[in-house]
Amino acid sequence: MEINDTTTGGKLIDRLGRPIEDLRVSLTDRCNLRCTYCMPREMFGPDHVFLPRHELLSFEELSRVLAAFVDLGVNKLRLTGGEPLLRKDLPDLIALLSPLEGLQDIALTTNGILLPRVADQLAAAGLDRVTISLDALDDETFRKTADTPLSVDAVLAGVDAALAAGLQPVKINSVMQRGVNDHQIEDLAGWARDTGVALRFIEFMDVGTTNGWIRERVVPAAEIHERINARWPIEPVGTAAAGDGGEPGGSAGRSEVASGAGRSEVAERYRYLDGGGEVGIVASVTRPFCRTCVRARLSAIGELYTCLFAAKGHDLRAVIRDGATDQQLRDAISAVWLARSDRASELRAEGGLTGERVEMSYIGG
Ligand code: GTP
Ligand code: 5AD
Ligand code: SF4
Ligand code: SF4
Repeated sequence: MEINDTTTGGKLIDRLGRPIEDLRVSLTDRCNLRCTYCMPREMFGPDHVFLPRHELLSFEELSRVLAAFVDLGVNKLRLTGGEPLLRKDLPDLIALLSPLEGLQDIALTTNGILLPRVADQLAAAGLDRVTISLDALDDETFRKTADTPLSVDAVLAGVDAALAAGLQPVKINSVMQRGVNDHQIEDLAGWARDTGVALRFIEFMDVGTTNGWIRERVVPAAEIHERINARWPIEPVGTAAAGDGGEPGGSAGRSEVASGAGRSEVAERYRYLDGGGEVGIVASVTRPFCRTCVRARLSAIGELYTCLFAAKGHDLRAVIRDGATDQQLRDAISAVWLARSDRASELRAEGGLTGERVEMSYIGG
């Protein structure tokens, strides 16, 4: 493959040969939970200064910027936060985005708490599917990890609402921390099998600099695999499994893109041999997948980040507020992507990450 050939298949390709395909859009840096691995209350307490409302991109600005990304090859959007359901009138934004030509999939990452109120409206506006964060099924562990007085039932109601609204496949993200919630692996897997949702176990990452990450608290993918396999035997599915993320620039079918499967999927996928569905493991720490990373991120104030572990973004809001034409906006995005060579998780594996990094609640999950 030619590196830096921006004309390859008409696609925008970065310096490591990766096309831009998947954009995660943070709609707010606020959240109604305080998961210890993401927004520890000591750092995100009453004194924390969140982004002022007037700084956020308006829905009109968002739809313009996102249209430019879609023109450049993005076919998958994930709306995230913080907690994106805190953004008022979210169905209106989705209704602006769903007609974009070339866009095959609009997904939302949420903690599920506010979902029962809006799931139907979101689906009617054109949202395809949701991913819901849930780290434990017992109230004591849930309250500890999410730092909330709420009970697990509040999230389960969100899962039910998503299923009833047809926001499928519903996926569940469970971040595993040793000694905190790893005793829940089998319970979570069994619950997901019974409920018909796709569960992904995620290795605890050193994203941001406030969550007190230590390597000893990471439960390696290999161990998660072993425990699930011991209870319900599993086998790898497709090319994303077992560390083979597929070739960047290869082709994924529409149905694959629509379910999140294919090239841009981060999870290693496994199938239960007894027909109990699928389970995934996101091994960002022990088996990094930077080689196939086709994801860009946009902060709530319109900064383009080319890696989850980047220190700084590129200000696209200034570009549009300065009166740029659509072509100038596309050129600004292209220039950033063409210069991209990020591979932070591989570098961590080679010796550790140091320095400033953006927080996940700011840039999106
Ligand atoms: P689907 O489209 O449903 O397949 O979503 P996805 O595979 O993109 O997964 P999702 O966005 O739900 O990501 C799951 C988790 O993987 C996130 O919450 C992060 O913890 C981690 N993750 C996602 N993207 C990246 C990435 O680009 N780099 C790293 N290091 N971790 C990521
Ligand atoms: N490590 C791994 N995943 C994280 N998330 C947030 N913080 C971390 C972290 N430190 C992910 C969770 C959640 C999504 C919004 O972000 O999967 O579901
Ligand atoms: Fe909120 Fe999600 Fe972060 Fe938890 S992981 S604090 S629910 S943004
Ligand atoms: Fe992509 Fe950066 Fe994650 Fe690597 S660490 S997979 S380059 S976002």
